[in-house]
Amino acid sequence: MSKVLVLNGPNLNRLGSREPEIYGTGNFAELTAAVEQASAARGLTAEVRQTNSEAELIGWLHEAVDQRLDVVLNPAAFTHYSYALRDAAALVTKAGLKLVEVHLSNPHTREEFRHNSVISGVATGVIAGFGFESYVLAIKAL
Ligand code: DQA
Repeated sequence: MSKVLVLNGPNLNRLGSREPEIYGTGNFAELTAAVEQASAARGLTAEVRQTNSEAELIGWLHEAVDQRLDVVLNPAAFTHYSYALRDAAALVTKAGLKLVEVHLSNPHTREEFRHNSVISGVATGVIAGFGFESYVLAIKAL
């Protein structure tokens, strides 16, 4: 089975208790289970990870390039300002691999600073606003 990395940035480990009116009541373990199930149903093995560290997230994107793995990425707040993460994401897509940017919420309906993504310009595609289903749609796309 081909493997896909499903990478999550800062504060997503607090899902369930973090602003449930925006992000829903499901926790990170439940998100992981939903992604693993959706992946297995399509013949993929998802490795779901979360970090609060920009450096670790960048290292995981380098790993995707070295191991030739497609990526589903929720960069969380790094979406809006991390040029270092953008450059790492570009390494993935320039290597001919797919990188789908996902968001639980629709950042465009929220505060102005969330309207810009520095990642989207180097992503294969973007899915936002469907809660856990954003990840399932990304897996389907891959
Ligand atoms: C998010 C949206 C970001 O603006 C925010 O910083 C997050 C989560 C989302 O999944 O909706 O942490 O990426």
